[in-house]
Amino acid sequence: MSTFNAPKGTFDTLPPASAEFLAVRDTLVAPLRRAGYGYIETPTFEDTTVFARGVGESTDVVAKEMYTFTDRGGRSLTLRPELTAGLMRAFIEHRMYAGALPVKLWSVGSVFRYERPQAGRYRHFTQVDVEALGVDDPALDAEMVALATQGYRDLGLTGFELLLTSLGDETCRPQYRELLVAFLERLDLDADTRARAALNPLRVLDDKRPEVQAQLADAPLMVDHLSDSTRAHYDAVRQHLTDLGVTWTEAPRLVRGLDYYTKTTFEFVHDGLGAQSAIGGGGRYDGLSAALGGPDLSGIGYAVGVDRTLLAIRAEGLDVVTSAGMQAFVVPLGAAAKSFAVRLVGQLRAAGISADTVYGDRGLKGAMKAADRSGATHAVVVGDRDLAEGVAQLRDLRTHEQVAVPLGELLDRVRATVGS
Ligand code: HAM
Repeated sequence: MSTFNAPKGTFDTLPPASAEFLAVRDTLVAPLRRAGYGYIETPTFEDTTVFARGVGESTDVVAKEMYTFTDRGGRSLTLRPELTAGLMRAFIEHRMYAGALPVKLWSVGSVFRYERPQAGRYRHFTQVDVEALGVDDPALDAEMVALATQGYRDLGLTGFELLLTSLGDETCRPQYRELLVAFLERLDLDADTRARAALNPLRVLDDKRPEVQAQLADAPLMVDHLSDSTRAHYDAVRQHLTDLGVTWTEAPRLVRGLDYYTKTTFEFVHDGLGAQSAIGGGGRYDGLSAALGGPDLSGIGYAVGVDRTLLAIRAEGLDVVTSAGMQAFVVPLGAAAKSFAVRLVGQLRAAGISADTVYGDRGLKGAMKAADRSGATHAVVVGDRDLAEGVAQLRDLRTHEQVAVPLGELLDRVRATVGS
């Protein structure tokens, strides 16, 4: 019989390593809760148009990387290649803009992109996503950047850098775009790159090939052509960031893979990851709500790649799992003891103590091995003879000290002991 592997570009997260994944996810989320962000959950798939219009037809994400399918009712659906467009769809659908603004949301979940798999680049990965919708205030841009920074710091990461720029808005980007197009037309570029320049000239700035980069040294940059309003907005963001103690690197050539960005745009890169160095990124988007049929309201947000952040943590040799494993392990010896163990484990768990026991016929040696492997600090060893005498043995698995405890006191004694 043939067996199956996880699909190309995907992987399974198994215990005990999965505890690290959960710790990273939860640590990234903690600062959001403290800042008043509410949890939102949207479907893993949306109408394909949500992404085509939201993320932009000219992006690689939409043009090449979407998992799109037709359902049995003939609808074109797409597994989400990012969370922002879906969250915006929900914001509009539920008229959340009619209440107090900004609407602050966070979510976490699976994201799908048909990319060429390599270290740190997967076809299924997890993002923590954060959005503040409905208000265009530079202080909110700074809050976003500071929240992301806080999450990384709380994990103990130090080898990351914040790249920051402004992509302008409709008051200056069209003029800049013309300048850039005129500049690119004068260069010696191959047909493919010319086609890209016609579709999305900004993306050419991101071309990694040395022969292209060499020609781009004098390319006009958006930050040098900001309108007064976007310049003032960017200056205010930077002042707030300075006040918040956040440091950054100006990145005037930063190009993001999604088309909705305007004004403040940022990316976090980590030096321990090789080619796929972005551990998070985001920015403001003025036109996304309107593009999805909503009111003309701005928003800002970011997403952190949980899997890449975990790789960064490993690259820095950090230990993120702080929560203890199992506390108590019950070892029954004999049939009557087995029923007692099942009951005791239930009572311990109900009392908030993490507890486990052996299943299957393991014998004393196997059971004690399982107790050690569980990471529990204490074992309750109970045989049929103990039960007849009305006691159980409470054993400290670190010191191997053991005391007989009357059954009536057992629960309280375990509770008092495992905390120590
Ligand atoms: P993004 O930069 O496309 O932004 O993705 C955010 C993060 O997801 C990246 O920095 C990276 O850590 C992770 N990531 C992206 N692609 C992969 C992959 N193939 N494998 C593993 N990790 C990956 C967005 O998705 C925007 N929606 C962020 C945003 C929210 N902007 C505004 N609001």
